[in-house]
Parts: sequence; C-alpha cells; structure tokens
Amino acid sequence: MTNISNPAEIEKLRKDFPILGQKIYNNDLIYFDNGATTQKPQQVIDTIVEYYTTYNSNVHRGVHFLSQRATDAEEHARRTVQRFINAQSPDEIIFTKGTTDSINLLAFSFGELAIQEGDEIIISRMEHHANIVPWQECARRHKAVLKVVDFDEEGVLDMEQYAGMITDRTRMVALTWVSNTLGTINPVADIISIAHSHNVPVMLDAAQAVQHMRVDVQQLDVDFLVFSGHKIYGPTGIGVLYGKRKWLEQMPPYQTGGSMIKTVQVDTTTYGDIPFRFEAGTPHIEGIIGLGAAIEYVERAGIEAIAAYEHDLITYAKEQLGKIGRVKVLGASRPKAGALSLVIEGIHPFDAGELLDKKGIAVRTGHHCCQPIMDYYGIPGTLRISFALYNTKAEVDILARTLERVIGMLV
Ligand code: ALA
Repeated sequence: MTNISNPAEIEKLRKDFPILGQKIYNNDLIYFDNGATTQKPQQVIDTIVEYYTTYNSNVHRGVHFLSQRATDAEEHARRTVQRFINAQSPDEIIFTKGTTDSINLLAFSFGELAIQEGDEIIISRMEHHANIVPWQECARRHKAVLKVVDFDEEGVLDMEQYAGMITDRTRMVALTWVSNTLGTINPVADIISIAHSHNVPVMLDAAQAVQHMRVDVQQLDVDFLVFSGHKIYGPTGIGVLYGKRKWLEQMPPYQTGGSMIKTVQVDTTTYGDIPFRFEAGTPHIEGIIGLGAAIEYVERAGIEAIAAYEHDLITYAKEQLGKIGRVKVLGASRPKAGALSLVIEGIHPFDAGELLDKKGIAVRTGHHCCQPIMDYYGIPGTLRISFALYNTKAEVDILARTLERVIGMLV
C-alpha cells in the first residue's frame, strides 16, 4: 500500500482495489459514485475474510481463544477510530449501522435527555434526509420546533441567519460538514463557536467529510460527530457516533437488550457503561473490524495527502465539466469536497446518467436524498459526480468527452 506523496502513486494505489480492474459493457470501469459508496481495497476484504476463516466468534462473551481474539480485534478497531478522529477516549466511539442509525440514536436519546415542549433544534436546508427526518420525528415527539438555515444560489449557508436563529430555547444544532449533493464545505469551526457561545451542543454529519479531510473532534470541540464505514473504503452496515463523554454518560439508551446491561432481574435492569450502553445485541463484528482496516488504509495513504490530491482533482473536474455547453455546475464558484452536481439544460439527469453507464461510467442521478435542495433550485434532480482517492484526471477527461457526446445525442 502506497503513501501518496505524488499523484503518480495513485496508479499504484488503484491496484489495491480489485473492482476497478473490470470492464463494464466492454469499457474500463470509471467509478464516480463514491458519495453513494466507495470501493474496498484488498486489505479490507482480506481482513474480513481472515476474521471468518480464522477467528469467527462472538465478542465480549466467550472465555475461549476465538472470542478473545475477536474481542481484541473489535476493540483495536475502536481505538483506531478514536485515533483517526482524535477522540479523547475509545469510550466515546459508539458503533452503529451507519450515519442514519447514528443520527436516529442521537435524536432519540438526546431528545429524551434534553428536549422539551417549545425547545428548538436547528438543521439546514442542505441536509441529507438522514439529518432531517430523525429531527422532525424528535421535534414531533417532544413538541419542539425545528428551525431551518437557508443557503444561497452558490450553495453557501446563511451564517447571519444561523447566528440570529439561536435562542435560549435552542437545544441542538445538527448540520452537515460537507453537502453530499453540492460538495459545499460548511464553516464548521464558526458553526460550533457560535453555538457554544450560547451553550448549545453541535452534531456534525461527517458522512461526506471524514474520507476527504482531517477530522479532529477535540480541536473542533464538537459535541457529536457521525459517519458511515462504507463511504470511507470500509464495509456497509457499520457507522460511528462520536459523542463527548459528558453527554453520552447522561443520555439514556436507544435500544435495550443483551450486552448493554450491568444487571438484569425480571422487573428491573441497570445499564452498562459507555460505549456498550449504546450497543445492544451482537454487534456487526466483521463490519467493525473491516472499518478499522479501512481507516488504517487511509492513515497509511495519509489523510492530508488524500485531501490535497482530491482538491486538485475536483477543481480540475469543475473546470473541465463547466466548459461543456448546456452544463452548469451548481455552486461552481466555491471550493468543494467530494461531489459536484451538474444540471444540463434541456436534459433529464437520468437520461444522461443511463448513457454514461453504457460507456462504463458510474454516476448518481436524482435528488440524492436531498429533496429540499432540489426544491430550492426548482429541479427534479442533478447528475452527481463524486470522487475518491483512486479517481484520476484522465478519468475526468474521459467523462468530459463522453458527457459532451451524450448531450449531443440527447438534444
Ligand atoms: N447518502 C448517499 C449518497 O449521497 C447514499 O449518495
């Protein structure tokens, strides 16, 4: 595995991803749907195969060798996540099914702890549905008020509106770090410092950030941060909720059952300590171990090197795609991470996406689980190009040439 010190090394690194070597409809696969899910390096696949072939067993239960080994591997992965996001303690890392599950856990449990009738929760209009619906439900359950920060034509949050929105009834600010649709990088340090000046905690949805830039939860002083394993080269079905100890220790469990208890009698239960209090039932063991391997892979490549490489790539893509007639890149004047959304005059994104697919180019079309963004622009959807560390400028060139031809066929 390569430490990326120059772009030429990306070619070597691509060989770690077996799926990239295949042909789709007789064309080399060009995978630009990384915002939906990333491909997996052989190192992650091997880690999961090794678990099933040599030490498959349940964790935190058995006295036997295999169970001990599985438990050690799981807790090693927890420490890997802790180190990667610079949490103070592994106890602050809770494994969930993914970002959606993490936000549901938080909205339920923090809601029970701190949200009452008339209280306020702040989200934005650029959130993924996963960071809207759980808070709508939380607000409904507790008769709280959901407040929504707007963004402008360039996809930039209205920070003045945000700052003016916080009151002494605000109990939570839950915002995305990077928009999965627009690629907007939100000013998270400012968001947190404004909220904290009113003693309001902040949750960041880092599902589209953690694979593209350095995340340091202590430096940010963020209260909660969530992300998914499968968008950072790890398995599906595994995600993380980071929470400051001071919050997690007060929050009631979300799900109950085995593993999360201290003592159970038929009529009463005492709960275990964090993080296990929030991890009822047998966990997704191979997912956790696979996520740890994925993060170690990213660490070896170097997250700063990945960020620099991808920044150059996305800037190049924005320029090349923006030159094509009829194509508009939403919010093109802003720095981006992860994704670009294209609107093509007179052409439905689905039609263009289908023709690109026939040339082996995988993109996502539609609303990307962000219907409020589509409503703002008055469009049914976009054609989204989303990036990972194995994409190249040569792939962008092929995409640009092919898209130009596709548009010619559709007009
Ligand atoms: N949330 C994922 C995406 O943006 C599925 O495509």
